[in-house]
Amino acid sequence: MITVLDVRAFKAEGKRFAMLTAYDYPTARILDEAGIPILLVGDSLANTVLGYESTLPVTMEEMLHHTRAVARGARNAMVVADMPFLSYQVSVEEGIRNAGRFVKEAGAHAVKIEGPHLELIGRLVELGIPVMGHVGLTPQSVHALGGYRVQGRGEEAARRVLDQALAIEKAGAFSIVLEAIPAELAREVTARVQVPTIGIGAGPHCDGQVLVLTDLLGLSERVPKLAKAYADLRRVIGEAVRAFADEVASGAFPDETHTYR
Ligand code: KIV
Repeated sequence: MITVLDVRAFKAEGKRFAMLTAYDYPTARILDEAGIPILLVGDSLANTVLGYESTLPVTMEEMLHHTRAVARGARNAMVVADMPFLSYQVSVEEGIRNAGRFVKEAGAHAVKIEGPHLELIGRLVELGIPVMGHVGLTPQSVHALGGYRVQGRGEEAARRVLDQALAIEKAGAFSIVLEAIPAELAREVTARVQVPTIGIGAGPHCDGQVLVLTDLLGLSERVPKLAKAYADLRRVIGEAVRAFADEVASGAFPDETHTYR
């Protein structure tokens, strides 16, 4: 079973590692068997699986439902639940209560929080709930950022990202996601913090890399620049369901082997 100590040790040993998002039981089983050490139940659940336009509408109940399924499928991997928009920004107390639900009711081992919510991170760590930080492009702030744009370009913006990462580390986070920032800035952040950085659109110098599973599998309608499709499951699934429908139409399915006598 992967723990926060293992994740910290990856950095100490110079071992690059992969994190993937997961949203359901069967894919959690596959990723777990493939040896992926961290499964993130990302709030990307909203747009990748539930069909929302952004991550903003996804609710605590929806996130809990999918975290439970992933936790049932993960035998070795650490399960990190992403705290959805407005589940932790209103007050530290509400953030603690909601983070606690992920651990207590859904079986998550840690939570992820976007941005420098330092008091909350500190309190959660004190209470025994490990926290993964997230800086750079934080999609829950899409409207304030003026869209899904690369962050940390220019001296002042780069300084802001670095300062946030240092403060999140100091507050007690065990790792930090760096999203959509220039590779040179990610290299500097990775060198300056003691905890592992996990990049997405942050270049090759991070300690780990994360992808959204539907992008990796080629299930997304559009794969963003920061992601890579390692398979084309849209095509594979399309071919399979068309073959089924054709065999139903022609009467070829079900044949003798699929019929009870
Ligand atoms: O929700 C998500 O999938 C994420 C990853 C992109 C890190 O936060």
